[in-house]
Amino acid sequence: MPAAKDAEKKMEALREKIRHHEHLYYVLDDPEISDADFDKLMQQLKNLESEHPSLVTPDSPTQRVGGKPREGFVKVAHSSPMLSLDNTYNEEELRDWERRVHELTGRSDVDYVCELKLDGMSLALTYEGGKLQSGVTRGDGSVGEDVTLNVRTVRSIPLSIPKERLKKAGIPADFEVRGELLMPTASFKKINEERERQGLPTFANPRNFTAGTVRQLDPNITAERRMDYFPYILLQNGRTYFERHSKTLAALDAVGFKVNPNHKLVHSMDEVWSFIQTWEEKRDSLPYEIDGIVIKVDRTGLQDELGFTGKAPRWAIAYKYAARGGITKLENIRWQTGRTGKLTPVAELVPILIGGTTVRNATLHNMDEIRRLGVKIGDWVRVERGGDVIPKVVEVDKDHPRGEKDVEDPVKCSVCGSKVVRTEGEVDYRCVNADCPAKLVGTILHFASRGVMNIDGMGEALVTQLTERGLVKNVADIYKLSKTDLLSLERMGDKSAQNVLDEIQNSKKLPLERVIYGLGIRMVGERTAQFLAEHFGSMEALERASVEELQAVDEVGPRIAESIVEFFSIPANRRLVERLGEAGLAFKGKKKERGTMLAGKTFVLTGMLAKYTRDEAKKMIEDAGGKVTGSVSKKTDYVVAGADAGSKLDKAKELGVAVIDEKEMETLVK
Ligand code: IVH
Repeated sequence: MPAAKDAEKKMEALREKIRHHEHLYYVLDDPEISDADFDKLMQQLKNLESEHPSLVTPDSPTQRVGGKPREGFVKVAHSSPMLSLDNTYNEEELRDWERRVHELTGRSDVDYVCELKLDGMSLALTYEGGKLQSGVTRGDGSVGEDVTLNVRTVRSIPLSIPKERLKKAGIPADFEVRGELLMPTASFKKINEERERQGLPTFANPRNFTAGTVRQLDPNITAERRMDYFPYILLQNGRTYFERHSKTLAALDAVGFKVNPNHKLVHSMDEVWSFIQTWEEKRDSLPYEIDGIVIKVDRTGLQDELGFTGKAPRWAIAYKYAARGGITKLENIRWQTGRTGKLTPVAELVPILIGGTTVRNATLHNMDEIRRLGVKIGDWVRVERGGDVIPKVVEVDKDHPRGEKDVEDPVKCSVCGSKVVRTEGEVDYRCVNADCPAKLVGTILHFASRGVMNIDGMGEALVTQLTERGLVKNVADIYKLSKTDLLSLERMGDKSAQNVLDEIQNSKKLPLERVIYGLGIRMVGERTAQFLAEHFGSMEALERASVEELQAVDEVGPRIAESIVEFFSIPANRRLVERLGEAGLAFKGKKKERGTMLAGKTFVLTGMLAKYTRDEAKKMIEDAGGKVTGSVSKKTDYVVAGADAGSKLDKAKELGVAVIDEKEMETLVK
């Protein structure tokens, strides 16, 4: 067999294998192989694909994140309107809806499917020949935005489905799926914590986060945010395909979509009601948020007879769970230091039973929120609780006598006693002591994570034990751990202990920028750490740098510079850094002299370049001392335009900014 043919066969076999394991992991949540073995398969495929670039297919599992950041989203018309649902809030309204269904269809034996009302955003996927073609947001219901590149990064969405499998399930090769895109509560919390650590604004709830993420211009970021997709509609040419909705769900499941398993075919409104009550009690146990139950008429024929009113179908209805809340007295407010060092005001309440749980504490978010609500200590307040989210104070009950004591700003960290700081222009106070026990687990998990010191095996369970037993009091203690220490922990055998020790040893080889990033200095993310390492070339030089010197570094403004100086001004932090140096971590890096030729010049890249990817072109410009930004303004010096350049080119012309091509860019940087 010719070599290329052989490679092609091998690649297709690997792809099939990877798709199978992706399905087990991301859809069924039941993996058969370890993450490491999965990564190996992926690496083998990547290697083969880089040897044979012409044989890479768009539906290859390696191509989930293939795109470069885009400039905006294209509007796309839906094959048929994406409808919303009418809401009901009590049993009576639900029975009224059933009566209307009976009247309009002339039948009293209607079957229903009950589904969870997932709190995400709806998204339409089109497949042609079994391959994913596009993903479009709901938009205004008639026209949405093409977010295909982001949608491709969602691992539970199949990029391609074998035609035989579709045929067996009775699904045509060209079809459309509609469903809910959402962010599991755990990913939401994790990413919000990371954003908080970097001083970026956090999102209020998983739904807002999902909406923000799917409209991210950079698909690499979407890929990191671990979203999930549950389909609930199948269409062909804009029309429902199967004769029963329950059949649709079964068919989608059979071809590998992640159909939400918590649905039920029922034959009466009594059964619907019992489904609603069951899930009202169980909703806290779900890994994502729901805000109600959707009830759908099962038979498509009846759905057609019932039709629509305005923007909602008559054949489906939502039952919305009431916000669970109650009114109680706020006795005190304490400032609690979280994993990232941020201080949150926590209301201490006279205990109140909400949805089966006794609530004693509720969050007030921050000082701005306290002012907005006008809360005083001694007030009676309304407290609400969402899915898995912490209870919050939502308003002051003005019918009760008002409290009189104003809430004061925090002075000291309640856990370690260090003075807390608030950067100008920011709402939150924080504890900046790197040794503060409240931050310990979060700091260590960040330090050990893949993109930082990459200590595999040092996850939440291990870190919690290590800190609880006092074996690790700061990140430097990681490098003092012995095998005996590790073996004293639960569920730790000789082999796992050795693996962790090897991983710790290996982390010492990682470059200076990782160590800087790992310190968890506020507002110093991966990229800033890189620039700092290149500019100063050593930890010592960084430690000594003044606010002015720091501001000479690319993309470091006064706020970041102050945050760095602040960090190193704390004696405990300096001791920690010293110990990391003693442990043998990389404290020297390659000082990189950026060229000065293009110093002070700002570039914008647009369109497709022939010779370079966008990242490569960016690097060339930055190496020559220039800066690359995302949007064209009067301050832009050059717009580098490749093929199919769009709105940025127009903007450049409009503002009279110099437009150059790839060749001219090469000349400039040389
Ligand atoms: S069916 C014509 N099923 O709720 C039927 N929607 O309030 C339209 N949603 O826009 C949707 N879970 O984003 C359906 N199991 C479910 C759902 C669901 C959540 C969302 C969907 C829709 C909104 C309407």
